[in-house]
Amino acid sequence: MRSWAITGAARGIGLEFVRQLALDKEDLVFAMVRNKERATHLIPIAEANQNVLVLEADATDYEALKAAASRVSEVTGGKLDVIITNHARTGSGTRYWTPITQMCVYCNMWRIAIAYRVNTVGAMHVINAFLPPLRAGTMKHIVAISSAAGDLDLVLRSRENLLAAYAASKAALNIVIAKYAANLRSEGFMCVPLNPGMVNTDETSVAARASLSPLLPVAPLGSTDAL
Ligand SMILES: NC(=O)c1ccc[n+]([C@@H]2O[C@H](COP(=O)([O-])OP(=O)(O)OC[C@H]3O[C@@H](n4cnc5c(N)ncnc54)[C@H](OP(=O)(O)O)[C@@H]3O)[C@@H](O)[C@H]2O)c1
Repeated sequence: MRSWAITGAARGIGLEFVRQLALDKEDLVFAMVRNKERATHLIPIAEANQNVLVLEADATDYEALKAAASRVSEVTGGKLDVIITNHARTGSGTRYWTPITQMCVYCNMWRIAIAYRVNTVGAMHVINAFLPPLRAGTMKHIVAISSAAGDLDLVLRSRENLLAAYAASKAALNIVIAKYAANLRSEGFMCVPLNPGMVNTDETSVAARASLSPLLPVAPLGSTDAL
């Protein structure tokens, strides 16, 4: 039996992770959401699959995350194999897409602070809260869903000038995950930031409406070899 915990599981990519992982009835899937009542697509999946448990925790609330990790430990006997930190403040709202040179300084600062708080620090909160059961687990995998937006080389080559706050928070996330890899490698951990590519979720719809640059084929940002 493998055990998985996934943040941002109410919709988008996180929801699809849960749906697919639930297919293996030997596995246990902890689907983490901000608000169960609003998780209208997830709840029917959990009701139909006894191996899916829904937990509530905001990624900016460390105490709530620790409580969720304790609940996981109660169910699994103190172990967790894989954490997938997938949640993000992505980019709904067209002003999020304003080119950096057209953002006012204060709005820009505010957007960057929010993006860091959720996407970078929030991921650290998630990983730190779940480290005790991960250390006791067999697989010891830490997966962070990142983005090509945070890939320096790709931004320079594509000249993509939008989504500055989101991109900066994802670039920081990549470094943060590399630091976890450096710290935890000797304990047998694999820590990897993954770029999912363009996926048809709410975020992607906004991108389409904003007439973004053509979709770019991109490789995963990290691999076990790289880290
Ligand atoms: N879709 C793409 O094309 C694409 C491309 C590159 C990277 N990504 C990355 O892939 C991941 C998933 O993207 P997506 O398109 O599925 O996003 P999405 O549809 O916008 O879903 C984002 C999820 O994150 C949750 N979330 C937001 N703030 C949170 C917080 N403070 N605490 C806990 N959860 C929070 C949301 O919860 P609520 O449901 O409660 O709002 C939602 O479930 C993100 O990390 C994104 O950056 C996506």
